[in-house]
Parts: sequence; structure tokens; C-alpha cells
Amino acid sequence: MIFRQLFDHASSTYSYLLASRKGGEALIVDPVLERVDRYLQLVQELDLKLVKAVDTHIHADHITGLGALRDRTHCITVMGEQARVDVVSMRVAEGDKLTIEGLSLDVLYTPGHTDDSYSFLMGDRVFTGDTLLIRGTGRTDFQNGCARAQYESLFGKLLKLPEETLVYPAHDYKGDTVSTIGEEKRSNPRLRVRSADEYVELMARLELPNPKLMDVAVPANMRVGLAQDEIAKMGWAVTPVQARGLVGRADVALVDLRERAEREKHGVISGSLHAPYPDLEANIRTGGMLNELARATGRRIVFYCAFGERSAMAVQAAQDAGMASACHIHGGLDAWRKAGGELVR
Ligand SMILES: [Fe+2]
Repeated sequence: MIFRQLFDHASSTYSYLLASRKGGEALIVDPVLERVDRYLQLVQELDLKLVKAVDTHIHADHITGLGALRDRTHCITVMGEQARVDVVSMRVAEGDKLTIEGLSLDVLYTPGHTDDSYSFLMGDRVFTGDTLLIRGTGRTDFQNGCARAQYESLFGKLLKLPEETLVYPAHDYKGDTVSTIGEEKRSNPRLRVRSADEYVELMARLELPNPKLMDVAVPANMRVGLAQDEIAKMGWAVTPVQARGLVGRADVALVDLRERAEREKHGVISGSLHAPYPDLEANIRTGGMLNELARATGRRIVFYCAFGERSAMAVQAAQDAGMASACHIHGGLDAWRKAGGELVR
């Protein structure tokens, strides 16, 4: 496995680059905008392909690198269901798996620091965001934070992991890089409480100043979506209502770019094909499955995904590959559902 812990001095943020092998797919957790050049250089040096960028929650102390990484690598952006961001490519919830080639992370919903805080468990290690820090815990006094919820996330979930589980937080301000669940249980002063009430009281007494960048970072981090309007202006988008009229038509091929697990969990548009986003390049090049389908049958390819972001990137790539009729459903299945579109399983 390739595992790199990267540090942003200005915000004391740790980001994590993960991959199963040289030459394979990579995922980054909690990237910082100012460090994006460095991440991409490292990705290139390690001969990796960045396919997912994940934030554990909406950060208040730095601007996320999610949008910039997506724009520069066409990777998928991922956050939790509760994150109040305009658009991410994929949303996850408790019990889901976050996967790339050769790696699978268990998604744990661990609210408290914010109501959109997630942790990700990968075998012997857990990425705890700002829920559990080394000898500390994330503050709970803004962004719908809740000390009681955090107590549950800590004592009900994270501290129940095996004691030897390595703890990799989103920040450290003292120079520590890693801890373990057992070590935190024994030595983290915030965890020496006997009840949720005591924890709530402890957190209420902290009276911390707001992060310096909060007024800039939070609004910026809520607007990470790709500008789908640009694709629409090119005439490469259909509205969900228009898309409903295309279902079942012989001259149209609806193509679902989502992962199998998303399809199983949320359902699919009746009669659509499945061509996962990671295989896009192979599918749209000359001789590729979708390129051939469009060429040989004259069918219009209509991509869709969860929120319209993967499909917007796919349309651009398909157009670049000469598939002139390719378009997508603006806003994805989220918009489709809101327009009364049906999904089948
Ligand atoms: Fe945070």
C-alpha cells in the first residue's frame, strides 16, 4: 500500500494520499487548496491516478482542495450526505464503503464537531477528521456542532475500534502525527469523562476564538461544485423533465456512470446502461463501447450520475472524443428525483 501523510503548515492540516499500488488509483482525504500543486506532483512522481478527493467535513480553517483537484484531474469529489455544499460528485453515509482500486474504506458517520463529520476506517487505521484528535477532540461550538453527538461518536463508535487501530486526524497543532485508539483512551484528557453530561460541560467551558479563516473558508467550502451551466450553455444538457421524455426511446441510450453500490442503494433509471465513470476513457475512445454504440446505432448518449458532476465531466470528455451528440442530465438523479422521475431496482 502507498500511504502518505501530508501537512499544511498554515492550517496545521493533515491530508492523506492512499493507493494500493504504484501505477494504480489513488484517493486523497482532506486536501488543502494551497497544497494542490504539491499533491499533484506527488501523484505524478508515484505514478498514480487520482480518482477520488474526500473531505471529512466542511472545514472552517482552510479552503478545501476538492474543487481544484476535480478541475485538474477529473477525479470524483466525495462528502457525507449531510454536508451543506452545493454539489459534490458523490455522497456517502454510515455503512457505505468508499472504494478505489485495491482499497476499501468503511464510512463511519461521526457527527459532533460538525453535523457533517465523517471518519473513514481502512483496516488497521482510521481517519478521524476533527472528531478525534491526538490528545484532543474537535470543538463543537459552531457549524451545527454538538458535544452530546460527539460524545456518542467517540464513545459509541471510534473508541470501540480495536485498541491498536492507528488514529490519523485532520489536524495536529503540537507536532504529533499518529496515535492509536488505546493510547487516546488512556491519555486523551477530553476522554476522561464519566458521562455525556460531563463531556458537554467540558466542551462548553472551552470558549475558543473562531478560526482566523472561518468567514472565508466556510462559504468557499460550501461552493465546490463544478459549473454545470457551462455544459448546458453548450447545448450538452437536458433537464430532468426533458430526460423523462427520453426514457424508452430507441434513438437514445441513457448511461449511468455511478458505482454499483450507488445503483443498488438508490436505484437506476429504467432501461439505462451501466458504464462506471472510472472506465470512461476506455468507453469513449474510438472503438470503445460507448463510442461504438453511438457510431453504429446513431443513438444519442445521455449520461447521468448522482448530482450531474461526473456526467458533466463525461460529456466534455465524450465531446472531446468526437461524440457530438453526447449530453447529460443536468443535476443528475438528485434533480431527476426532485422532478418526479422514477427509479427502479
Ligand atoms: Fe474542522
